[in-house]
Amino acid sequence: MAILLPGGAGYIGSHTAVELLKEGKEIIIIDNFSNSKPEVLKKIKQITGKDFKFYEIDYSNKEELEKVFKENKIEAVLNFAGYKAVGESVQKPIEYYTNNISGCLVLLDTMRKYGCKKFIFSSSATVYGDPEIIPLTEECKTGGVTNPYGATKLYIEQILKDTYTSDNTWDICILRYFNPVGAHESGLIGEEPQGIPNNLMPYIVRVASGKLKELSVFGNDYNTPDGTGVRDYIHVVDLAKGHVLALEKLDKEENGIYIYNLGTGIGYSVLDMVKSFEKATGKNVPYKIAPRRAGDIASCYAEPKKAKEELGWVAKKTLEDMCKDSWNYIEKN
Ligand code: UD1
Repeated sequence: MAILLPGGAGYIGSHTAVELLKEGKEIIIIDNFSNSKPEVLKKIKQITGKDFKFYEIDYSNKEELEKVFKENKIEAVLNFAGYKAVGESVQKPIEYYTNNISGCLVLLDTMRKYGCKKFIFSSSATVYGDPEIIPLTEECKTGGVTNPYGATKLYIEQILKDTYTSDNTWDICILRYFNPVGAHESGLIGEEPQGIPNNLMPYIVRVASGKLKELSVFGNDYNTPDGTGVRDYIHVVDLAKGHVLALEKLDKEENGIYIYNLGTGIGYSVLDMVKSFEKATGKNVPYKIAPRRAGDIASCYAEPKKAKEELGWVAKKTLEDMCKDSWNYIEKN
């Protein structure tokens, strides 16, 4: 019985593939390399010393996807095949809704046809919109998303809830990621944004390496300790381990639909990140204060208690690990 990872060559997918293989699980990756590279597959094998099946297909292509289900016994699916660039989603809403939502529907329909009903979905803290209360618990109100990317996460969560309501033999886990950063400690896999990065950590590492001149800190007049935006940064390897535990939970428990925040519970500001990065790596990160970025919120961090109590998951890596590993990946690549 294998675990299927659509988008398994991407940033979160590849790190999760490593953790699953380390646990002795059989995995199958499907990817169309729309935002990843074939070399990643070799590197996953290099890190783990383990082999796995791979199909170069688009997960939203029903015929090709069916081939995978026909040829293999798939017990669970962890879906990483979503587009994730917030700014791009504003420019290309139809592409985002098609890939993320229609793709996920094709996947769910195919799973159902082949009697596979165990599903883990990569959601995001973005579903909470601008939080009324922080830290955010899973019970906090969702909605008020500011871009099509966020809307796809919110709508897919609803689709999954409706799917479970209609048929309680489904076994579903929704993982709401906070801000994933860092890379595998080997430096072999990591985040590879195309073009100029939008997210903070990839931008910082490119400034530190001299590829970009300086960081623009988007706003220093927020209602936060130093005026800059506060987020819950989480090491991608901790995040990946959360998926392994979520899968174990689905294996152990009654069928159901479960939702967990995956964050550290600690908020760091943009300036905290700059200073910590400089301290951890000895590199300089020149920055200037710039106007606020549209759609940004002041503060967002998790209450991760539920994941600790029900999954036995806690984020173990420190901010120093996040900075060092992000830098190590860039240096090696
Ligand atoms: C964004 C998305 C979120 C998505 C996440 C990871 C929104 C509202 N949220 O989170 O849905 O899951 O990316 O892809 O769009 N910053 C700077 N300068 C920069 C870049 C960022 O000051 O060059 C600041 C931002 O203003 C923010 C913090 O750094 O305060 C983090 O930004 P970013 O890494 O883009 O993540 P989010 O906006 O939190």
